[in-house]
Amino acid sequence: MRSKIAGVGYYVPETVVKNADLELLMDTSDAWIQERTGIQERRYGKAHAETTTTMGARAAEIAIQRAGITKEEVDFIIFATLSPDYFFPGCGVLLQRELKITSLEAPALDIRNQCSGFIYGLSIADQFIKSGQYKNILLVGAEMHSMGLDFSSRGRNVTVIFGDGAGAVVVQPTESEGILNTVLHSDGTYAEELAFINPGCHGGYHLGKEAFGYTDQNYGGIFLTEKMWNEQMIFPTMNGPLVFKTAVVKFQEVILEALNKAGLQAEDIDLLIPHQANLRISQFIQQKLNLRNDQVWNNIQKYGNTTAATIPIALGEAWEAGKIKEGDLICMAAFGSGFTWGSVLLRW
Ligand code: UT7
Repeated sequence: MRSKIAGVGYYVPETVVKNADLELLMDTSDAWIQERTGIQERRYGKAHAETTTTMGARAAEIAIQRAGITKEEVDFIIFATLSPDYFFPGCGVLLQRELKITSLEAPALDIRNQCSGFIYGLSIADQFIKSGQYKNILLVGAEMHSMGLDFSSRGRNVTVIFGDGAGAVVVQPTESEGILNTVLHSDGTYAEELAFINPGCHGGYHLGKEAFGYTDQNYGGIFLTEKMWNEQMIFPTMNGPLVFKTAVVKFQEVILEALNKAGLQAEDIDLLIPHQANLRISQFIQQKLNLRNDQVWNNIQKYGNTTAATIPIALGEAWEAGKIKEGDLICMAAFGSGFTWGSVLLRW
């Protein structure tokens, strides 16, 4: 028994935010953003009207319909995000409620693997299908970054990159090749190099309690300190150059690992869908693997980095554009916070 992607859908919110719009909020420029990242614009969800869950639900509806099943047939939900509606419970159950998929009381699993979330989710779905436990797994990757970014100049290296959006797939059993293999990796050594640390339960353990305003009296008992709030330490931060340098190596390694396991070469890939972190990273990998432009799908120019949603959005776009045909060899790969990285190789 193998598994296949039976339907794919995506949703991006209406509001387009151009680089010039960000120039009004922080010390940045359209030229810098385009030159360093390739990004021209991104979408932001409607505050108080949209959430990570609602955007995920819109993408899921399309994926379910394209898979030719009803919502009630979904027997397992996997939700990948780093920008959940609530700290807990996770978006999986919120999506289940939003879509009214309660007939089977199907389990909902939330995964926290940031940029690699969709790849990790697809690997989990693949294992559950292969084991025969589930038959219609709904996997969603969605993000509402715009609600949690630092729009002052201090946050510019992170904020200009990220956008909102959602993508979803339905994974089903197949008699044909389908998913050939999945490869997953992580290295927690670099956990704080791309992270959203506060508020949280760390009590200053990893980076020193003084840095966050903990004292011996309150140490360990406070989730959000006055210092975190007053000094606006409540946004994601990134060591961009380190992440970039590591990403270009790990992307390549993990794609080649998946190809080797399947006895295939880079030239066999019909379409590579890299996680959309930076156009320069994608172009670097393309060059290293010696792939033509028509073998790589990039859309970061329009949406920025939508973290767990980049791959299913790109997959959905490529499918709609007729770029994915039956029998095509599709490779998807991601690298990001954790660090975590992984790849999926499949025959469509
Ligand atoms: O999806 C998760 C994984 N994420 C990634 O893979 C992201 C990987 N990293 C990157 O894509 C790049 O490191 C960035 C796009 C984040 C930054 O590009 P960079 O070429 O590595 O720039 P840098 O961080 O080395 O900064 C160069 C300069 C600095 O100024 P000084 O110190 O040279 O005066 C920054 O302060 O650019 C400045 N800078 C900006 N200037 C204008 C940083 N962000 C901005 C900005 N606008 N938005």
